[in-house]
Amino acid sequence: EKGGFSSFMDKEIHDQPHAVADTLLGRTDLQGRLVLDELHVDEAVLRQVDKIIVVACGTAAYAGQVAKYAIEHWCRIPVEVELAHEFRYRDPVVNARTLVVAVSQSGETMDTLMAVRHAREQGAKVVAIVNTHGSTIPRESDAVLYTHAGPEVAVASTKAFLAQITAAYLLGLYLAQLRGTKFPDEIAEVLEDLRAMPEKIQRVLDGADHVREIARSMAGTRSVLFLGRHVGYPVAMEGALKLKELAYIHAEGFAAGELKHGPIALIEEGQPVFVIVPSPRGRDQLHSKVISNIQEIRARGAHTLVIAEEGDDAVLPYADEVFRVPQTPTLLAPLVAVVPLQIFACELATAKGLDVDQPRNLAKSVTVE
Ligand code: M6R
Repeated sequence: EKGGFSSFMDKEIHDQPHAVADTLLGRTDLQGRLVLDELHVDEAVLRQVDKIIVVACGTAAYAGQVAKYAIEHWCRIPVEVELAHEFRYRDPVVNARTLVVAVSQSGETMDTLMAVRHAREQGAKVVAIVNTHGSTIPRESDAVLYTHAGPEVAVASTKAFLAQITAAYLLGLYLAQLRGTKFPDEIAEVLEDLRAMPEKIQRVLDGADHVREIARSMAGTRSVLFLGRHVGYPVAMEGALKLKELAYIHAEGFAAGELKHGPIALIEEGQPVFVIVPSPRGRDQLHSKVISNIQEIRARGAHTLVIAEEGDDAVLPYADEVFRVPQTPTLLAPLVAVVPLQIFACELATAKGLDVDQPRNLAKSVTVE
């Protein structure tokens, strides 16, 4: 049941520290090495993989996009992420050295299932990352890595998303361990960082009053844009999807670097724009690039809603509102950065009097193509 929360969605947002912790549980041995017992794919096959294709739909596909950044970085294997229905109906280059990763909360999404069947027919191995035990996709895959998010009832996916990212990261670290692309102590360090995430997610939940208040004040808004770079890009897309499906508001997620190639033309006085700011301690000037993007849109009148790390004061001159998340290594930041966006969509939809658990026209699992 709802456990004292006003909706299943609100409850499931609050379940997220557990969803991540439970997905990490029991997946290392006494020496701290990753052991993915359920992953019954021959190690020799996994060593030979030369391409990974993640197939999924909706939120699960955004989890795949986040995972791409991490898996390529750790394993040096090219990773493509493709919507399952697009993958199925083109002529993808897939063979016995391709690892297809099918991500699905329900395990029943027909589009994803058809992609799994198609991949296996071409000789690829398929690993499913699925939340629902006994569902069809794991049964038709070569192996399954379960997310332990617990049952997700609300149509909008929240805790499954965080658990999918976590499980995909475990798969990436496992491949890095197996193929020797990362030193054991580097892998142990990432696992340590992952284990610290549930407490950080809890801190975001505990400090969410500000985002709720802003959401309620924006109930009349007709359009919201979301910008992010690197792993913040799929987070921006996910934030936009949540707002569309729950609050029926036009919302778009963009890669921040793409602004000047078109979307900046949308910015006019008062346009609300969420910006997901990467850690200032990260590499590659990511942070300063995003700060310039906020400057650019603010100068054109955008109302900027900024998600930034605690202690990142560089955002202050350009932010109309700041929502803080704990300091986190760049690759793990989506696990905290998406939470204010979920709460924003849930609260705004509630303020509009909408049923957040059962948005119009949508089903929890889409079992037709
Ligand atoms: O059960 P699945 O993870 O395969 O579902 C995929 C999508 O249908 C799902 O994520 C959908 O986009 C959600 N309504 C998003 O909140």
